[in-house]
Amino acid sequence: MSFFNNLYGDVAIDIGTSNTRIYIRGEGIVLSEPSIIARQRESGKVVAIGEEAMIMHEKIHPGIITVRPLANGVIADYDSTLELIKGLIQKARHHHAFGIRNIVMSIPSGITAVEKRSVRDFAHHVGAKKVYLLTYPMAAAIGIGLNIEEPMGNMVVEVGSGTTEIAIISLNGIVSGECLKVGGTEMTNLIIRHFNKSYNLAISDTTAEDLKIKLGSAYKMENEITTTVRGVNLASGLPETREVDSVTIREVIATPVSQIITAIKKSLEVLVVKPDISVDILDRGLYLAGGGALMKGLDKRIQRDTSLNVHLCDEPMSIIAKGMGEVLENLDKYKEICTP
Ligand SMILES: Nc1ncnc2c1ncn2[C@@H]1O[C@H](COP(=O)(O)OP(=O)(O)OP(=O)(O)O)[C@@H](O)[C@H]1O
Ligand SMILES: [Mg+2]
Repeated sequence: MSFFNNLYGDVAIDIGTSNTRIYIRGEGIVLSEPSIIARQRESGKVVAIGEEAMIMHEKIHPGIITVRPLANGVIADYDSTLELIKGLIQKARHHHAFGIRNIVMSIPSGITAVEKRSVRDFAHHVGAKKVYLLTYPMAAAIGIGLNIEEPMGNMVVEVGSGTTEIAIISLNGIVSGECLKVGGTEMTNLIIRHFNKSYNLAISDTTAEDLKIKLGSAYKMENEITTTVRGVNLASGLPETREVDSVTIREVIATPVSQIITAIKKSLEVLVVKPDISVDILDRGLYLAGGGALMKGLDKRIQRDTSLNVHLCDEPMSIIAKGMGEVLENLDKYKEICTP
């Protein structure tokens, strides 16, 4: 029977700081769009969500504002998040009416009790009857296909845009880990600040994001790259072009990269009292996921600094939603690992 005709369905929603993915039970990941909405400044009326709002983002006039309602993986603007998600669900259902029975929502492992309650309320507000909360590292481990139930250490590092999760998992639980409020967004912001401070040049979010993806790296590149950047001179107000190279960008984003490496080492050091798990990780290596995993040389850098084998996941940006989907499809098997 087609799910289209059903009045009720089960969904998993991964609301990331940059991107939101929706998984519908029986169908898979049906949508992946930027977590952004555009509103009329005066009336507050929503004029675009997701992809369409992102296209407007850099080109809006003063009558319209864009809002990214998530910050570091948690809901910062409740009403805007609600409009975003309701709109994206409608989009995913091609505007067919749709009720939600079970919902799986992703949360950072470092979330506070108040923030968790807010996610739960949010899920009920969206219309869900029953809510399951799954932490990012558990979702990532399941998405990667690791057997998290066995008495064996598995290590996952998930670098998102507002959070980085590091976890060593065994017997369905986190043995050791860190949840950092650091990720791709901070790297992009550092690039914007660098151009501002060093060259008096204002560059857009999109330009900085493109630069990071094209030139950003965490390890010396075999062939360093140079490119031109366009922005506006803050003194003259006139458009200006500058050259920038990948060595400079690597230095600009070095602090968040180091913070991630330090946190990985710290999570491993805790295992001194559990040497068997350390040996498992040494045998199996570390799994790297999240959009930030695509940063050039991050895998090599972690490998060099920890001496562990690093496995870069396929489609790292969808890993969490994939894991949440697996939980949704097998709720009886996994409901125990969802946080109360
Ligand atoms: N090729 C690339 N090189 C470097 N960074 C990249 C690349 N591709 C994507 N990213 C970064 O990955 C981040 C998005 O990843 P992802 O979608 O996993 O984050 P998110 O789920 O929205 O955030 P979070 O889980 O932290 O709330 C962005 O910061 C983006 O710039
Ligand atoms: Mg994420």
